[in-house]
Amino acid sequence: MTETVSFPQDRTCPYPPPANYRPLREAGPLAHVTFYDGREVWAVTGHTEARALLTDPRLSADRQNPSFPMPVERFKAARRFRAPLIGMDDPEHNAQRRMLIPSFSLKRTAALRPQIQRIVDELLDRILAQGPPTELVSAYALPVPSMVICSLLGVPYADHEFFEEKSRRMLRGRTAEEGEQARIELEDHLSDLIARKERAPGDGLLDELIEERLRTGAVERDELVRLTMILLVAGHETTANMISLGAFTLLQHPEQLDRLRSDEGLIPSAVEELLRFLSIADGMLRVATEDIEIAGQTIRTGDGVVFPTSVINRDETAYPSPDELDLGRSARHHIAFGFGVHQCLGQNLARAEMEIALRSLVTRIPDLRLAVPAADIPFKPGDTLQGMLELPLAW
Ligand code: HEM
Repeated sequence: MTETVSFPQDRTCPYPPPANYRPLREAGPLAHVTFYDGREVWAVTGHTEARALLTDPRLSADRQNPSFPMPVERFKAARRFRAPLIGMDDPEHNAQRRMLIPSFSLKRTAALRPQIQRIVDELLDRILAQGPPTELVSAYALPVPSMVICSLLGVPYADHEFFEEKSRRMLRGRTAEEGEQARIELEDHLSDLIARKERAPGDGLLDELIEERLRTGAVERDELVRLTMILLVAGHETTANMISLGAFTLLQHPEQLDRLRSDEGLIPSAVEELLRFLSIADGMLRVATEDIEIAGQTIRTGDGVVFPTSVINRDETAYPSPDELDLGRSARHHIAFGFGVHQCLGQNLARAEMEIALRSLVTRIPDLRLAVPAADIPFKPGDTLQGMLELPLAW
């Protein structure tokens, strides 16, 4: 056990995990952190222990459990809302997940690659035609995953400003009420869309679910609305953060970027390494529903547990020289997509998007560079998914 460290904390440029998390790394594999309201919870920092605990059914993801850890005041709104998938335990969780798994399989995702490439090419054509500088988040990093998830679901991309804004307020609103209001507005919007699709079906995943699950009574209307909402939100903001932060990180490591440009076969391992290195979902949460003995400690029933992925993915027993970006290393087994039953449903899709978007960006614009000093680039705060608010680039 260490002295406790406050959690979460903002990252600093050029984007290592917060320096103040270092005591956690040194204490590992289990330490304590303190939330804004003084509550102490376990922080799992060891890679082996994290994987053991993330597959342990005695840790629950149910945010309605009164002991569920809430590191930020506005997360408390989640208690009023039964989050599909991510906030459920098995067997309910498993039933929902089984319904969606085929649509996110490796095979189905591979079939989307030509379409992702087309989207990427068109956006890059536009960026190049307009000339430097460009703001990469709004011109590229956000539209790529947004267009892809809209097309996959069958949600009109014309509505993207509406749902991007609602997602932003859900993930980063100032208060619990603001996030809750945004969620309700997004759900109403999707409920109307589902009603329109019932009258005039299209050919997206949502249309399939309406036909095969809603009409047959296998899924309730509210449940379908919420599942669509979670896929839409999880499907764009996360990958957008990885595309912009990934581009920034490559520009900060020119020798690694040269390596990638001279060997495009490196792109899959480069993406895994960037996922490990950046660990944007930095704080998965669980609550213990029974006592758990691990690493000589006892996590008691009702204890909160947080998984700071930026620390776990730099455990040097799992990754030698963990603070070095090495695009050729085998970073597989990182937990940037989580682990266990809740491991990211969209990971195949996210990998395909990142591979295509990053490879095309750095090969089509060979002399890409930051348009402002790195220290002037605005980052998202530590209490949400990690990412950049803007990324001005020139060439
Ligand atoms: C680079 C991009 C992404 C990252 C880093 C990421 C990260 C994560 C993480 C860490 C979890 C596990 C959370 C936990 O255990 O508490 C998760 C779950 C999830 N992700 Fe992703 N994600 C990404 C992209 C996507 C995409 C593109 C989708 C598309 C639909 C998606 C949909 C989901 C869903 C539905 C879950 C919940 C799964 C479950 O509870 O069974 N994610 N993601």
